Amino acid sequence: MTAYPYETHDYDVVVVGAGGAGLRATLGMAEQGLRTACVTKVFPTRSHTVAAQGGIAASLSNMGPDHWQWHMYDTVKGSDWLGDTDAMEYLARHAPQAVYELEHYGVPFSRTEEGKIYQRPFGGHTTEFGEGPPVQRTCAAADRTGHAILHTLYGQSLKHNAEFYVEYFAIDLIMTDGACTGVVAWKLEDGTIHVFNAKMVVLATGGYGRAFFSATGAHTCTGDGGGMVARAGLPLQDMEFVQFHPTGVYGAGVLITEGARGEGGYLTNSEGERFMERYAPHYKDLASRDVVSRCMTIEIREGRGVGPNKDHIHLNLSHLPPETLHLRLPGISESARIFAGVDLTKEPVPVLPTVHYNMGGIPTNYWGEALNPTAKDPDAVVPGLMAVGEAGCASVHGANRLGSNSLIDLVVFGRAAAIRAGQLVDPKTYNPPVNTAGVDKALDRFDALRNANGAVPTAELRLEMQKTMQADAAVFRTDKTLAEGVAKMAKVAAKLDDLKVTDRSLIWNSDLMETLELTNLMPNAQATIVAAEARKESRGAHAHEDYPDRDDKNWRVHSLARVSGTKVTLSTRPVHVDPLTGEKEGGIDMTKIAPKARVY
Ligand code: FUM
Repeated sequence: MTAYPYETHDYDVVVVGAGGAGLRATLGMAEQGLRTACVTKVFPTRSHTVAAQGGIAASLSNMGPDHWQWHMYDTVKGSDWLGDTDAMEYLARHAPQAVYELEHYGVPFSRTEEGKIYQRPFGGHTTEFGEGPPVQRTCAAADRTGHAILHTLYGQSLKHNAEFYVEYFAIDLIMTDGACTGVVAWKLEDGTIHVFNAKMVVLATGGYGRAFFSATGAHTCTGDGGGMVARAGLPLQDMEFVQFHPTGVYGAGVLITEGARGEGGYLTNSEGERFMERYAPHYKDLASRDVVSRCMTIEIREGRGVGPNKDHIHLNLSHLPPETLHLRLPGISESARIFAGVDLTKEPVPVLPTVHYNMGGIPTNYWGEALNPTAKDPDAVVPGLMAVGEAGCASVHGANRLGSNSLIDLVVFGRAAAIRAGQLVDPKTYNPPVNTAGVDKALDRFDALRNANGAVPTAELRLEMQKTMQADAAVFRTDKTLAEGVAKMAKVAAKLDDLKVTDRSLIWNSDLMETLELTNLMPNAQATIVAAEARKESRGAHAHEDYPDRDDKNWRVHSLARVSGTKVTLSTRPVHVDPLTGEKEGGIDMTKIAPKARVY
């Protein structure tokens, strides 16, 4: 039995994480009268969604013709035909409704002259099933859209009596006979332990960008949900697909929104050439992100990078009218000044593709229910467990996510999870008693890490992992770099058994918290490199130089990775290829979304 005393809290639903998906799920649960707790390691409005800039995709048609079917087509093509078609239909169909709900909750969107929600162009969003010009589909609150959404959803959640446990670190899930029955958390402020006994646990813990050395993600993006799921023996899906955003500030990694190119910005090389015209003659700088990041990397590799070391690219905005910069892009004007020392009204911004988003995560269906696929039932659900947002993999982004499809994913699937929980959870029943053996297991691990007395400091091991991932799971990959990465990461992961934690206190112990985070980052990183090494094709963000073509015959499948210690076991799961509704019911024409070459 654990030596740690703990306080028990009973809820219908516990949401872990308070970013856009966590708050949208929390709000939806609380609105229905479910007793809902939101457990979060940072204050809700400091969650990483606050940094989302450019906007949220929905076919509102405020700036010209648009249809959800066009949005769905773009998402299918953006995913390089790896997304689940039912989930992609659900996303595109429900996006307008989810945005109008946000508007009514109070999100202060930018406006058109007529007072409608302002929408800007973003990469890969087009008209006429990819045959027409770019569409203005991305709804924006200047370049602070995530900030606006997060503050609004937090206020609404409080209004509906959701209860927040702020600066509580989730240690592990409580699993009981294959079902999730709660979560164990550590209150950072006073060192107390809390057990949340719940009928439904929703993981909304965000991505694991910090497994890499240079990322646009906050230092808090440590894949905590993926870590907990891996320790519960459950799989992670499509982890090899890591998105590099074309425009991270060179040297700092800070995001310069794709909205900058949406508003008319463009990239140039050392010869001053708008090189994207060569690679993507139709959509140019507004091609899909993976495409633009690869083209930038090729320019640099072929000696046409800018700067003394010819190792980055220029983003030009100085030709835009000052009113546009002031009204539509005030945040990045500030970021360029602070992080690049550049006045973007006069000079180009130095940029470099930077790790930005994890397409993979905890496999779910489009209701957010976590999956534990078996050979017999590839869609088998884990009772009591959901995952939403970047932590989850529904899968709508497949091998590559379109810009502004992330914010819409957060709210559409946060909302869907609440609808499904409303069907599954009976607020009138008592919760079963706490599974004390499950609690003991979580706290034994916690105690072992707290007292870890090996030779390797946490910060040193984290850096080794980050450098390995940065070098070997890069924009371009080869058999050689991936094999080296797999071998190196196995050695790095083994060192978790030799960690040294110097601070033994329970109160505001950042050494222990960063150690717990490292144990979460590690399985995410291991799954990424091992799944990348196994996938012998190029698809979306997985650009394999030894296998430059997409191979639908052998590889149009989701990868699943189960991580246990240094061992990663891979399997696959079929991609859902049938949409929710066919053409006759007002759905998508299947011939429109059949796989074909992906050109922009
Ligand atoms: O470029 C951006 O504003 C990022 C948006 C996104 O990742 O969806």
